[in-house]
Amino acid sequence: MKIVKTVAEVREQVKAWRKEGLTVGLVPTMGYLHEGHASLIDKSHEQNDRTVVSDFVNPMQFGPAEDLESYPRDIEHDAALVEAHGGDLIFNPDPEEMYHEGFSSFVDMTVLTEELCGLSRPVHFRGVCTVVSKLFNIVTPDRAYFGKKDAQQLAVIRHMADDLNMPLEIIGCPIVREADGLAKSSRNTYLSPDERKAALVLSKAIKLGSDLVKGGETDVKKITDEMKSLISAEPLARIDYVKIVDAATMQQIPVIDRPSLCAIAVFIGKTRLIDNFFTEDV
Ligand code: PAF
Repeated sequence: MKIVKTVAEVREQVKAWRKEGLTVGLVPTMGYLHEGHASLIDKSHEQNDRTVVSDFVNPMQFGPAEDLESYPRDIEHDAALVEAHGGDLIFNPDPEEMYHEGFSSFVDMTVLTEELCGLSRPVHFRGVCTVVSKLFNIVTPDRAYFGKKDAQQLAVIRHMADDLNMPLEIIGCPIVREADGLAKSSRNTYLSPDERKAALVLSKAIKLGSDLVKGGETDVKKITDEMKSLISAEPLARIDYVKIVDAATMQQIPVIDRPSLCAIAVFIGKTRLIDNFFTEDV
């Protein structure tokens, strides 16, 4: 397993693999890898001859008041995890390698980015689409792997790949949770012991919402109101959003009458966490 820092090194390695007729999977990450990322690497390892993991905290997808500086980083830990899960190459560029002086081209999207995290984090998806497009151009993978925890991101990337005729398959992988239900996230490391307990309110709200849907409830307001009351009872929690949207367009709907996504974002102290369920999966 190799770690490289430049675009040229990635291209050289991928070219050599291609000469041998090998397929390539890409797992884009911002590092500080956990079992959620490991499941993406496992899937790529299963479906491709070689797996590249990008490990880059992308400044372009953070807003000015967000956690770019404090975002956790640990390349040695990441390298051990990638190696243990059969990854072949880590691309760990410095910001200057990805965004040279004078960088001024962006990939952006309307409609799918108007709700949920796109509304709360206005520059986020432009940064994600731009960096993911760059990674696709650098690695030229056959398949790329994304977690369903970032459900809107997955929908946006699928849509971008389709709109822009990107020649690869986008694979979504299930949310990986801690034993007590909290969705795995690099940001969980920000939580104090009390906040860690309080953070369980997210998965509890997701369970409540999916049980209501399973029981036949289709009224979006009734479902989200119950979820909001549960979350609001937790003193350390502050709701950013609790919404149900059309899974294809990410636009809000009043009634669940099509494949839908129920997504929540909640601040626990200063840490913003997300979770979700697809109505098709309940
Ligand atoms: O999901 C993430 O970790 C990031 O948004 C991604 C896809 C690696 C782009 O920086």
